[in-house]
Amino acid sequence: MNAGLQRWLGESLQELRDKHLYKTPRILQSPAGGRVRMDGKDVVNLSSNNYLGLANHPKVRQAALEAIEKWGVGAGAVRWIGGTMEVHDELERRLAEFKHVESVLVFTGGFTANSGCIPAVLTNQDVVISDELNHASIIDGVRLSPAKYKKSDGYVYAHKDMDHLERILRETQGFAKRMIITDGVFSMDGDIAPLPSIVELAERYDAFVMVDDAHASGVLGKNGAGTTSHFDLYGRVDIQLGTLSKALGVVGGYIAGSALLKEWLINRGRPYLFSTALPPMVAAALIAALDVMENDPEPMRRLWANAKWWKESLAAEGFDTMGSETPITPVFVGDEAKAQAFERALWEEGVYSLAIVYPTVALGKARIRTMPSAAHSEEDLAFALAAFRRAREIVA
Ligand SMILES: Cc1ncc(COP(=O)(O)O)c(C=O)c1O
Repeated sequence: MNAGLQRWLGESLQELRDKHLYKTPRILQSPAGGRVRMDGKDVVNLSSNNYLGLANHPKVRQAALEAIEKWGVGAGAVRWIGGTMEVHDELERRLAEFKHVESVLVFTGGFTANSGCIPAVLTNQDVVISDELNHASIIDGVRLSPAKYKKSDGYVYAHKDMDHLERILRETQGFAKRMIITDGVFSMDGDIAPLPSIVELAERYDAFVMVDDAHASGVLGKNGAGTTSHFDLYGRVDIQLGTLSKALGVVGGYIAGSALLKEWLINRGRPYLFSTALPPMVAAALIAALDVMENDPEPMRRLWANAKWWKESLAAEGFDTMGSETPITPVFVGDEAKAQAFERALWEEGVYSLAIVYPTVALGKARIRTMPSAAHSEEDLAFALAAFRRAREIVA
């Protein structure tokens, strides 16, 4: 063990503790769901992205079990080297149909899809124009690219500010390619990107658009097909990212777009080129999850009914839900220490709902991020609301 490294790690971790930014994962002792067992306690779970309850759906589980029998548990190789099985191919064809695009390429996560795709489609002659609240995987993807993007250059636009975006588009006309990139649903605020205006500006200024639909997949659009479907912008969004880890309930991410885009990413998307394929049972489970999404409207109906009740009830109690428009419902606290105290008080009341602090959100913008889902019963949410009421009194 190198003493210098160990000392630095210890001191840096202490600094995080002192600033109330230290994270300790709790351990689930049951499948993902509305009520779970966690660290030895039965709690209502408001911190899961399992929007539609598919993570433990009987048909999805069954498909995974059958795929293990047929394919074993690992793909054994990187996709292009010999790790592409029929189930991967079928999953990509199914996703392409679902998204109404020519082609889809699956990655092992949404994060890797962003960090693989963004640098692959940009050169040092290009510029990226990015919403200031975009997800970390977009920011990392942009940092990995040789394109011009620096905040000091003004290529990050104020959150959803279309005038700012247009000013940047006017100023950057000399670049070879210009990419506008946005979350479809913002992961920490739950608001929706003004995609029709973004697309219109892109068309006017000859830029192209990439949208990260990690939190719109399974939530917005026809059968949960995402923001492009929600806003009826088929054929006008160049690159769509979807995650397979949240509403679809398993793991993985994908890029949806043209056949040429897929061909390029197969040849130049580094996480695709240098990382082993998703296990076949994951691909099979995802095909089954897509079947449920396309044929059973009930989980999405329940998701939105629960989200509506939850938001309205919190607002009626005077909580600030920060303009959220989707199931992601932040409850604003501000101060990091106070947010963590709120989280602990909720836990004592039997509710797991994580405090989100810097660096996931800006300093001073700490919040409790709640995620009502199709997996919650009315009783679960009523129980959680009562806990929020009492926790507020405890930390006041
Ligand atoms: C907006 C956004 N993009 C991408 C990701 C990464 O997706 P995954 O969890 O599939 O890696 C997330 C997950 O937190 C996200 O919120």
